[in-house]
Amino acid sequence: MDKLKGSARLMIVSDLDHTMVDHHDEENLSLLRFGALWESVYCQDSLLVFSTGRSPTLYKELRKEKPMLTPDITILSVGSEITYGEAMVPDHGWEEYLNNKWDRNIVLEETAKFSELKLQVETEQRPHKVSFLVDKKNAQGVIKSLSEKFEKRGVDAKIIYSGGQDLDILAQGAGKGQALAYLLKKLGSCGKTPNNTLACGDSGNDAELFSIPGVHGVMVSNAQEELLQWHAENAKDNPKIIHATERCAAGIIQAIGHFKLGPNVSPRDVEFPYIKEDPFKPTAAVVKFYVLYEKWRRADVPKADSVIEYFKNTTDANGVIIHPSGVELSIHSSIDELASCYGDKQGKKYRSWVDRLVILQTAPDSWLVRFDLWEAEGNAWACCFTTLALNVKPETPGGFVVTHIHKTWRKEYPGVEQSSKL
Ligand code: GLC
Ligand code: MG
Repeated sequence: MDKLKGSARLMIVSDLDHTMVDHHDEENLSLLRFGALWESVYCQDSLLVFSTGRSPTLYKELRKEKPMLTPDITILSVGSEITYGEAMVPDHGWEEYLNNKWDRNIVLEETAKFSELKLQVETEQRPHKVSFLVDKKNAQGVIKSLSEKFEKRGVDAKIIYSGGQDLDILAQGAGKGQALAYLLKKLGSCGKTPNNTLACGDSGNDAELFSIPGVHGVMVSNAQEELLQWHAENAKDNPKIIHATERCAAGIIQAIGHFKLGPNVSPRDVEFPYIKEDPFKPTAAVVKFYVLYEKWRRADVPKADSVIEYFKNTTDANGVIIHPSGVELSIHSSIDELASCYGDKQGKKYRSWVDRLVILQTAPDSWLVRFDLWEAEGNAWACCFTTLALNVKPETPGGFVVTHIHKTWRKEYPGVEQSSKL
């Protein structure tokens, strides 16, 4: 949250499973398209918030399976936990607030009386969340009698049904919507209320997100019946909420365009040869550079000399790359090697993407760009802390020239080390 000097241009608050992440898309294309758009256009002046039902344990698992960005803020366990940054520093104030009128033991005692309720795995039982599985046909009945029982015992709990199977019992103050309201209040108290907020979801526990005043909302095309029903009953006439025609992250991109919240063309959808951007944007330049790198290795661009020329013309002939293995190479000789690798990753589920990008202007025409560069081939993932120095140079095809690249492996991801070329 501290990265911003003023208000966020856009705050995206998105559910993960079946909203940001499409579990039916093995290629992860819409997720990657969104990631490239976010890093090239929004990451410097906007906030990305993930809001998931998952516990920290299951959230971390998902991050190892899908090419997701690192969000600024993570709302976990259906809004009963909030953490900040990549280190996931917990918001203890939020946890304390949730203790009010919450007694986990009484919840366990009362729920044990229902044979229809099957406790979810241990990782999903959290201090302010107790979760079960229950059949669709029994859900409404169980919810009704549970609420009565909790009331009698003085427990203020919130019961939410999602995905046609999950029943979450939360402390009353919790929930995705309440967590968002808390964050908006916190941002507002330091004068940083976002200019626009877009909530994105697909299932029952996302409904609350759409009830927060002033927030735009997108239900992705594949939204669950329970969310669509909530919308029909509660928000049908609200023009700030749309049901996208596109699935998952593609629906989010669609909503950015629909509500005119900012640019919504992903660099992954921009064909080569690139048109020079005016004004020059270092974030977009770097993202497009590595999208082209990936497409070359996947053979997703035609095998044309113009691609290699583009790389050469946008890099300094005297520039060096410090390879993560500790070897110093000239950037142009690395590009010559890249030229001979056309299509070497074709059909291998290979992807490369930029995450956690930050820029620093070091002189009127010079930038230092820092990011994590991911390369994944199937389940083998590798990541480099990457620093790249570039100068603005209007006469080149991209409007810039890279003078230096320095990469260091992130030890936690020893995936496809040998493959890194640029
Ligand atoms: C996630 C959580 C689960 C919860 C569900 C719906 O799947 O892991 O505990 O019930 O979201 O909120
Ligand atoms: Mg979902």
